[in-house]
Amino acid sequence: MVHVTAAAANDSPLLSCQGVDKHFGALAAVRDLSFEVRPGESLGIGGPNGAGKTTLFDVISGLGSATSGTITFDGHAITRSSPDRICQLGIARTFQLNAAFDTLTARENTLIAAYYGHHNRVLPGLRFDRETARRADEAMAFVGLGDVAHDVVATLPVYYRKLLMIAGALATEPKLLLMDEPVGGLNPQEIDAVMALVVRLKERGLTVMLIEHVMRFLIQLSDRVLIMHHGEKIYEGSAQGLIADQTVVDVYLGEGSSRRLQHIMAKRSEA
Ligand SMILES: Nc1ncnc2c1ncn2[C@@H]1O[C@H](COP(=O)(O)OP(=O)(O)O)[C@@H](O)[C@H]1O
Ligand SMILES: [Mg+2]
Repeated sequence: MVHVTAAAANDSPLLSCQGVDKHFGALAAVRDLSFEVRPGESLGIGGPNGAGKTTLFDVISGLGSATSGTITFDGHAITRSSPDRICQLGIARTFQLNAAFDTLTARENTLIAAYYGHHNRVLPGLRFDRETARRADEAMAFVGLGDVAHDVVATLPVYYRKLLMIAGALATEPKLLLMDEPVGGLNPQEIDAVMALVVRLKERGLTVMLIEHVMRFLIQLSDRVLIMHHGEKIYEGSAQGLIADQTVVDVYLGEGSSRRLQHIMAKRSEA
């Protein structure tokens, strides 16, 4: 399910964003943002609502081109590439709000993702070959959706719909997976289950970027963390350093949350 990347062979970054800006009229949603993600790494993205996190994912995945700056992925310049080209090069994403074809079954949705992850648009009609079906079924099994494969998506609870977006992304066989608030709106047990799923993806060597407000999720799954505020990077480094960073505590975490996270980190290092 996970490809070995060209970048892995020579230790260069898999994704590189340099001086990326994204403007909506007068609003700079992302400002002069530079960072790299290395193969196999997981980078957590945090920051208050409106900080520009989702816009950053939109720019990387081609849904809205950067106003300026450059984005390079696995040796390809993708700054102005289309979303389908970027997906076919190996970047898949999930969305903050559930996105699926509600009147189709879970498996049909995943088949469509598996198909377009590797084929260009063809009209009329779609025929799913065996290889597409294999990718879809493997992804469904991996996230644990096998039992509801033939259920119509509109009938599925939110937790399964979150998993379905991950299954669709995995069915494209990505090198880099972008997850936008994968546990938003889930209960603590469900959050733990998604956490275990992301751990299994990391163990497979998948490179991951994840946006999340649930800080225990973010800090426990991220090798490094980048915090945005008003479109800018205000912190990039370890999760440990994040909790102690006064700017981050002031604009985002708050003192109480920072203390609770210190407790979680201490327990993690004891384990
Ligand atoms: N398509 C758009 N048109 C205009 N403004 C937008 C658009 N998308 C996002 N924004 C604005 O850009 C800023 C960053 O939004 P967003 O990236 O969704 O933040 P976050 O994901 O960090 O909460 C916000 O002020 C938001 O209102
Ligand atoms: Mg967002």
